[in-house]
Amino acid sequence: METKLVFHGSIIHSVAENKAELIENGLLVVEEGRVKSLSSGVEAKDTAKTLSELGFDGSTERVKFLKKGEFLIPGFIDTHNHAPQWGQRGLGRGLQILDWLDKITFPNESKFEDTAYARKMYDSCVDGFIRQGVTTASYYGSLHGPASKILADICLAKGQRALVGKCNMNRNSPDYYRDSSTEESLQVTEDFIRHVRTIDPNFEIVRPILTPRFAISCEPELLAGLGEMAARNTDIPIQTHFNEAESEIAATLSLFPQFSNEADLYEHYGLLTDRSILAHCTHMTEYEFDRLQALKCGVAHCPIANTTVGGGFMAAPIRVYLRRGIKVGLGTDSGGGFSSSILDAMRQAFIVSNAREMMTKGAEPSLTLHECFYLATLGGARVCGLDKDVGNFEIGKDFDALVINTVDDKLKGVVTMIEEDDALEVIFEKFLMSGDDRNIAEVCHYRFETDIYKGYFESVAKFAC
Ligand code: GUN
Ligand code: FE
Repeated sequence: METKLVFHGSIIHSVAENKAELIENGLLVVEEGRVKSLSSGVEAKDTAKTLSELGFDGSTERVKFLKKGEFLIPGFIDTHNHAPQWGQRGLGRGLQILDWLDKITFPNESKFEDTAYARKMYDSCVDGFIRQGVTTASYYGSLHGPASKILADICLAKGQRALVGKCNMNRNSPDYYRDSSTEESLQVTEDFIRHVRTIDPNFEIVRPILTPRFAISCEPELLAGLGEMAARNTDIPIQTHFNEAESEIAATLSLFPQFSNEADLYEHYGLLTDRSILAHCTHMTEYEFDRLQALKCGVAHCPIANTTVGGGFMAAPIRVYLRRGIKVGLGTDSGGGFSSSILDAMRQAFIVSNAREMMTKGAEPSLTLHECFYLATLGGARVCGLDKDVGNFEIGKDFDALVINTVDDKLKGVVTMIEEDDALEVIFEKFLMSGDDRNIAEVCHYRFETDIYKGYFESVAKFAC
């Protein structure tokens, strides 16, 4: 059996909501892009012998020996990201969500009608997220069909696993940035789906996702049409914004007076399924928790946007989602969120979970380190419906991974400070709490030996295994 790629050293991955496995002297074998074997407690000197015992050829030529302070983790998963907002990250502080859309976002996103502009911005955006270790992302595009196809093409060319959506919006937005009718919005969506089926027939890297922006932006007929499309295409997920802010909920319910809450509204139109990714979910009633749980929807927790746009400090009830077994992962919500870093999103998730603990007088304890790492990796994979493929190093999964280096000479005095006697758990915590993209030494993708991955090598210097 041919050995493709082997790592020896510290390996960390999530195995449950509240448990990361920290493997010392680990030996991970990747074959044909998939995790073939994962062992622990193998001394470096015994690598060749152990490989032979496992049935691989014992040559150590292609073994990457990680030194102390280096370790392997799964790639980060961003469950909620607006690619056309790459250039507006963090703009518009203090604006309520609906004003922020009108004043900052719609004028900006309308520029993606120009395909040359879209190509330039999306190229930079996808590179930027890969550089931050985001190997899987769920993207909202703009409303434009051609630009959305370009985004899907770029994700495929660079080998970033992605859900890509043409954004549907045919009301409550300016004339210059609105789908002209329900029919046109649905037709552009169908055409976009056909395009993705053509460029990646088995959705190995890119997959279309139905993307009604939110109910305020969509005529009831458009929501119904998208619900029908979701029912016809059971291999295609759905994403929307859900219970993001009080002003947004009030505006939604005044447009749809027949409903008393957003769960009933979106469920009525066939948009709440086990393939749905609901961004924010900050203001929830017991009834809505019950519906999301019963319908097996996923939650994209966006702690940075929740505390910076929208006009309030919204601490989403993550502990409740975890307790109820509702799928939950992290989203940068770039550019409502100012950062393209999942590490930043994790830190903000800690902050808002502390706030939540205070607000609930201890009833909803704050997140642990292992839980937050779960949200950034395996939890995100579950939300995106990709946990059979990615999220941790379970045997058989695709190998999307990051080599973390906390001890490179160039990093001295810059980022994390590692000391001789630091245990792996401490090094891991130091990276998560004080590291940044300079610690991400390599971004490994399972397609690294294919032509598709070559595009990625060319565009992102150096980040290859
Ligand atoms: N609700 C509808 N559109 C958006 C958006 O672009 N960002 C955020 N945060 N909320 C929204
Ligand atoms: Fe958003």
